[in-house]
Amino acid sequence: MSEIQSSVQSYALGHTPEAFQRLLVQGQLFNPFTRRMLSDAGLRAGMHVLDLGCGLGDVSLLAAELVGEQGSVLGMDTSASVLQLAHERAQAAGFSHVAFLVGNIDEMALTQQFDAIIGRLILMYLQEPAAMLRRLAKLLRPGGVLAFQEHDIPSQVDATLPASPLWQQAVTWVTRAFQMAGVESRMGMKLCGTFLEASLPAPHLRYEAAIGAGPEWAGFEVLAGVVRDLLPLLQKFGIATLEDIGIETLAARLREEVEGSHDSRRSSRPGHASRRRIGVDRAGHRLVR
Ligand SMILES: C[S@@+](CC[C@H](N)C(=O)[O-])C[C@H]1O[C@@H](n2cnc3c(N)ncnc32)[C@H](O)[C@@H]1O
Repeated sequence: MSEIQSSVQSYALGHTPEAFQRLLVQGQLFNPFTRRMLSDAGLRAGMHVLDLGCGLGDVSLLAAELVGEQGSVLGMDTSASVLQLAHERAQAAGFSHVAFLVGNIDEMALTQQFDAIIGRLILMYLQEPAAMLRRLAKLLRPGGVLAFQEHDIPSQVDATLPASPLWQQAVTWVTRAFQMAGVESRMGMKLCGTFLEASLPAPHLRYEAAIGAGPEWAGFEVLAGVVRDLLPLLQKFGIATLEDIGIETLAARLREEVEGSHDSRRSSRPGHASRRRIGVDRAGHRLVR
């Protein structure tokens, strides 16, 4: 596999080991939404699917479960290193009907027809998403599915309960860095307009968001990870300094600000133990600490 340099340079989050780790954790947060979205969009056994900007393959693997071995999934990404890991994950899952292809979506020369073309957090990076959708529609068999899951990053300022000024600050850093780098941070809210601009029917839309309200929430690590990936751009555009950001402790401070606020509310209630926390472990057992 070869790395495609021209597009990699324009991918704002980079392809570092830290970025891959963050993508994995982010997948745990988003995969339940994505699975529902793909299923509701009509992915069924036997379908042949193209997953654009597949990264570590989370979406490809979810699609592979839905289409089964009678179907197939082709994941495409510009990064050979990310695809190597995606390939290993597909093998570990025992999926022989998933393949990966190094390629730039903007320049792809596929002639093959698909039953579904899908992607998560990819249209936001494209210069001309409507033109891309128009081209993709031509690769679909009659009655085929186009299904995308995209961010609305600015509205994420409200994604913790209670609200956290540090969280809001970090979301603002990310929004501004993306804006300066030409990445569409509101792609989710622009999906309908983009489909219409591509002369496609208006899509069925839904809005889902993970909300941080418990100590185990992975969103603190994900946001801090995105900020880490964006450090070069944040400094280059003068949005924040390394000192402002304090990247090594950012995730912990985000968690502490949200959770500390819960704790102070708890401790202000008479008779409530201030450090007592309730959560759910991986096996679904209720934990009280
Ligand atoms: C935010 S990641 C999302 C990965 C995956 N879809 C997920 O949700 O876990 C975006 C991915 O799109 C890839 N990408 C960006 N621009 C691309 C392009 N023009 N062609 C192919 N892949 C691209 C990046 O290399 C990166 O792996």
